[in-house]
Amino acid sequence: MAEGQCIERFKSQPRLPGFAIPRRYDLFLRPDLSSCRFAGSAQIAVDVVDDTRFLILNAADLDIDGGSVWFRNPSSSKEVRPSEVVLVEDDEILVLRFDEFLPRGSGVLGIGFRGTLNDKMKGFYRSVYEHNGEKKNMAVTQFEPVDARRCFPCWDEPAFKATFKMTLEVPCDTIALSNMPVMEEKLDGLVKTLSFQESPIMSTYLVALVIGLFDYVEASTSDGIKVRVYCQVGKSSQGKFALDVAVKTLDLYKKYFAVPYSLPKLDMVAIPDFAAGAMENYGLVTYREIALLFDDRHSAASNRQRVAVVVAHELAHQWFGNLVTMEWWTHLWLNEGFATWVSYLAADSLFPEWKVWTQFLDETTMGLRLDALAESHPIEVDINHASEIDEIFDAISYKKGASVIRMLQSYLGAECFQRSLASYIKKFACSNAKTEDLWAVLEEESGEPVKMLMNSWTKQKGYPVVYAKVNNGNLQLEQTQFLSSGCEGNGQWIVPITLCCGSYASQKKFLLKTKSEKLDVPELFNPENQKISGSVWIKFNVDQTGFYRVKYDDELAAGLRHAIEANQLSPTDRFGVLDDSFALCMACKQTLSSLLSLMAAFSEEDEYTVLSQMITISYKVISTAADATPELLADIKQFLINLLWHSAEKLGWDPKSNEGHLDAMLRGELLTSLAELGHDITTKEAVRRFYAFLDDRNTSLLPPDIRKAAYVAVMQTVNSSNKLGYESLLRVYRETDLSQEKGRILSALASSPDPAVVLDALNFLLSSEVRNQDAVHGLAGISKEGRDVAWVWLKENWDHISKTWGSGFLITRFISSIVSPFNSDEKANEIEEFFASRTKPSIARTVKQSIERVRNNAKWVKSIESEQSLGDIVKELADKKLHPSF
Ligand code: BES
Ligand code: ZN
Repeated sequence: MAEGQCIERFKSQPRLPGFAIPRRYDLFLRPDLSSCRFAGSAQIAVDVVDDTRFLILNAADLDIDGGSVWFRNPSSSKEVRPSEVVLVEDDEILVLRFDEFLPRGSGVLGIGFRGTLNDKMKGFYRSVYEHNGEKKNMAVTQFEPVDARRCFPCWDEPAFKATFKMTLEVPCDTIALSNMPVMEEKLDGLVKTLSFQESPIMSTYLVALVIGLFDYVEASTSDGIKVRVYCQVGKSSQGKFALDVAVKTLDLYKKYFAVPYSLPKLDMVAIPDFAAGAMENYGLVTYREIALLFDDRHSAASNRQRVAVVVAHELAHQWFGNLVTMEWWTHLWLNEGFATWVSYLAADSLFPEWKVWTQFLDETTMGLRLDALAESHPIEVDINHASEIDEIFDAISYKKGASVIRMLQSYLGAECFQRSLASYIKKFACSNAKTEDLWAVLEEESGEPVKMLMNSWTKQKGYPVVYAKVNNGNLQLEQTQFLSSGCEGNGQWIVPITLCCGSYASQKKFLLKTKSEKLDVPELFNPENQKISGSVWIKFNVDQTGFYRVKYDDELAAGLRHAIEANQLSPTDRFGVLDDSFALCMACKQTLSSLLSLMAAFSEEDEYTVLSQMITISYKVISTAADATPELLADIKQFLINLLWHSAEKLGWDPKSNEGHLDAMLRGELLTSLAELGHDITTKEAVRRFYAFLDDRNTSLLPPDIRKAAYVAVMQTVNSSNKLGYESLLRVYRETDLSQEKGRILSALASSPDPAVVLDALNFLLSSEVRNQDAVHGLAGISKEGRDVAWVWLKENWDHISKTWGSGFLITRFISSIVSPFNSDEKANEIEEFFASRTKPSIARTVKQSIERVRNNAKWVKSIESEQSLGDIVKELADKKLHPSF
């Protein structure tokens, strides 16, 4: 066989061949922070386990000098050199061909290489910061999922675990961090050489380095593990909150998983340019500044919660992910779904008053939303090429993943679940696991058919809607796949059904294993007419722990509406009734009138998460109604304003002394939504307070929790002939060095109803004043009026956007934020056409999903257009005095 052909067979393979297995990496790296280049060498101890003349490993964007490559086997003292060294760019593999077969057993592979500290926020990259008024570079790594290969040649797959021994040569005035503590430091003039302790075995995607100037705060866990938070010089007090959370969380996880944290130290670092929110590198967790730093005077309650949840999430990975690692990216959800779920467990334990398990429903609903698309994917998803991995860090892996875990935990019971997890962690520590490995442990501990139950949730996409009907003295249940197009899919699930009748004291639970089932609930029915007796209500999916929706027949729905009015349902169940109704409405399975009537039953609502969802629903209703029934828009808005104003008025503008965290968050969200709905009183007051703030950034008139509301209100008053408000916001943006403040401003800038102003805001996102990591903040808040201009902007700037953000997952946010709000088939066609020639594997799924959403929106618009008595109902609701005092 010709040699060339031999190499061919290694191309286009989803995974590396396993004939040599890396055991230990001895790495040397010398980054140059001014020229942004780095040089390095790797000595990799490998076990050759098969007859081979080839070593195949990953490498990308590296200059590899073929002459520097050697292989040494302990039994023969001489080094062999490969006869061919080929870097296959498309597959990101390095093929080393030797003339002789390599002897089986252990050997060492040596490679020298050079690379660039890139600007793409992945691999080994540079981030820019200011120090004493001077711009400086720091060198940072971000390897997950497949970018360790851009820093050093390696077997860059999660199952090839090895130990890492790192040596760095860096300028003597910098702080250099890696996964393990420094063992030895040698000074030599202006440079120092740091040798780090060898790590325990771990996957390549968790290796990390950070080199720059930092301050830090430090504390210890009860086991004496040193925890530090590093941030830009002068900001270290902003690290205290995260530090405290981290120390407590490590202690908590040690108890929960019954295994201590496995490294001698934990460092957490705020990185000014960072693509994700945070990254769980073993012992060296990296964060965006907004996800780690908390400023007592300028950060909001929502920022505090974000920091706590992100820290808890990344630390959960130190067990779930780092100690026990998914075998392949198909099982990514074992990492992300679990870390998401566990982070709520930790946050709930640390901050019970935040009621995070109620807030967890935000995660579930986003999972349900995405998974109702035909273009969704199963939790366990086939991955055939590295370029497909980025896109599965999505709401299916994270939010559906976390939700099905919650469903299983609630089915098996918290104690049994915890015991099983501890035993799973122990069994697979320092190794890799697949989804079925977890099911096997849970099945053994619980004696329940976990694998059968859960396969129906992780191996097929989608989820069911359970139709509940009263029929001749029986309850009739039937499941079909829920799709937001309104079509019926043909999936079927094993559904853990729970229900309660009339009170939380009376509950039933069982597994619905078939398409339909009759339930005998004699106590529910009046024996005379076989109707549900009196005011009894039935709520399925108690506490919303199940990943499914419920469609009630009219009689059952009316019972629930009354139960909500009479305040008999828990907040989670109120959320569930509302959200299911909204989803069914969007899928044209229920009228908009019935949704609005249900919303009216929430006139006394004061629970943060429920109101927050009500706001989300209001936005969607408004933007759809604006096209479907423009003549009713003002009345619909008035109705929603009435609904929200009641709570807003109760909370007022100024924080009450000792008020709760949730009230602080709720105030901000209510006022923001009232400003966006054009509520005059809110807008005027917000603008007044904003100008007081512009004069004095420390005024008590604009505390951080209501700043976003003020910014949005200001933008509602801006138009092309009066841009004072816009310019003022930019001034605040330029003058703050707190990235949470910058984020708040960016998220409000494009909310003006004037398309010309929206265009200015979008162009500003592309300017050098906005870090690439932050541009996505600005896309979230584009006004309905700015929709068209944003699409034109995206098309015109596509080449630039694609070049700047295209190598990571942030590009998908440009597409989904700008495309998804449209609601006509013509637009869907236009969008399809535009992307037809521009799709690549890393955006393909997002493009399809976004277009599907547009088509679904279009169906919803048509359905609302044809709704008969909508006008009368809307008028009645808008005129209704929801509150006697109002
Ligand atoms: N492992 C991820 C970071 C990541 C995301 C790496 C995408 C590569 C691609 C990390 O654990 C994570 O999930 N971060 C979240 C924050 C979390 C609280 C949901 C993030 O980045 O948003
Ligand atoms: Zn994660």
